[in-house]
Amino acid sequence: MKAVHVLNGPNLNLLGTREQETYGLSTLAEIEARLAALCKPRRIILHFRQSNHEGDLVNWVQEAGRAGEPVILNAGAYSHTSVALYDAIKAAKTEVIEVHLSNIHAREDFRRQSLISPVARGVILGFGALSYDLALEAFLAGTEAGGNRPYRKQIMKSVRHTRKHSWQRRKRE
Ligand code: DQA
Repeated sequence: MKAVHVLNGPNLNLLGTREQETYGLSTLAEIEARLAALCKPRRIILHFRQSNHEGDLVNWVQEAGRAGEPVILNAGAYSHTSVALYDAIKAAKTEVIEVHLSNIHAREDFRRQSLISPVARGVILGFGALSYDLALEAFLAGTEAGGNRPYRKQIMKSVRHTRKHSWQRRKRE
């Protein structure tokens, strides 16, 4: 993975002061800094953006799709309303992970449905700022649909190590 696009929708520029009991204390700049710290040692370019305008988010999803680069998307309230974003994600030749800071299923009825979930690769929600980190980790770990080779190699190495050692332990017992 050479680059990742982290796209944030309406009102997320207010994080840190907005409904702290629901969204936590982290500002959007702090979330960006956390992700930058995860990306930098892996030499992944981070495109971190926020807009209050639906069309900007559509343009950015298209841009990431053209580049074939993965997207972490917190579409904010547009998650519940935007057919345009659903279409953009469906058309994009890339994977999109939907994230939310809050657990939208534990909130008002109108938040319980996300129009974009059916076209997302996966959904991570309810972990505050950590939701973003987990989404990035999911991309790094690779998925059944398109694995990340070096990471898979690392996993297989540790599986082999565990097998070898449990076999030696059994022999000793
Ligand atoms: C949100 C949840 C949405 O329902 C809300 O409109 C937001 C933030 C979240 O991250 O929990 O703006 O996407």
